[in-house]
Amino acid sequence: MINEAWLPPTLRAGRIAVRPFTVDDVDAMYAYALSMPGERYASWLGGTSPSHVARYITDTVARYGRPPRADLGVALDGQLVGGIGWRQVWGAPAELEAGWVLHPQAAGQGVAREMVHLVLDHLFARFDTLNRVEVRLRADDRAGVHLLESFGFVLEGTLRHATPEGDNRLLFGLLRSERKVSAP
Ligand SMILES: CC(C)(COP(=O)(O)OP(=O)(O)OC[C@H]1O[C@@H](n2cnc3c(N)ncnc32)[C@H](O)[C@@H]1OP(=O)(O)O)[C@@H](O)C(=O)NCCC(=O)NCCS
Repeated sequence: MINEAWLPPTLRAGRIAVRPFTVDDVDAMYAYALSMPGERYASWLGGTSPSHVARYITDTVARYGRPPRADLGVALDGQLVGGIGWRQVWGAPAELEAGWVLHPQAAGQGVAREMVHLVLDHLFARFDTLNRVEVRLRADDRAGVHLLESFGFVLEGTLRHATPEGDNRLLFGLLRSERKVSAP
């Protein structure tokens, strides 16, 4: 099990930082929540108003240090543009599910590649019993598919009616032994 207490990391590479959320992030998080079609991300936050976002951040910060989950902010040049998180979905062998959200205005600059690289590095180094990471992607997320395959993730199946709109999701899995470690 990944069950020992740990502090949320700050991971940096070039213009990008993956770091803990703070209460000052409400407006920037609300901006990327609103940028998603429909209520795709707001539903994850628990609601569509700034006060829902504020409560989500407060809860997230209060949970830091308590495994087995974490949500971290992603900043580009110091500006919060998204989030990336993970939670344990299986104990032995240890398995995490990871997911992310990124403001479309930050797309196409390699932010996703860098943040996924930083987080995979951190997780496999920090949790030596971690055997597998899985990601669920919307079936139309071509950039996401390309990104995952370049890290060695393998398409394992289709989750039917897995979005609020009733669309399918793709399930990708990466075993520790399969990981392609290449700097972005
Ligand atoms: C990964 C994602 C976040 C895009 O992030 P990004 O920062 O623009 O991605 P990057 O710039 O790091 O590019 C990732 C790779 O995808 C490639 N790519 C971009 N658009 C693509 C497309 N339409 N088809 C195939 N590959 C594509 C890029 O060329 C890059 O590959 P490379 O490094 O080999 O050249 C993507 O999942 C996305 O846009 N998702 C929708 C928005 C979202 O956040 N969804 C989650 C909601 S819960």
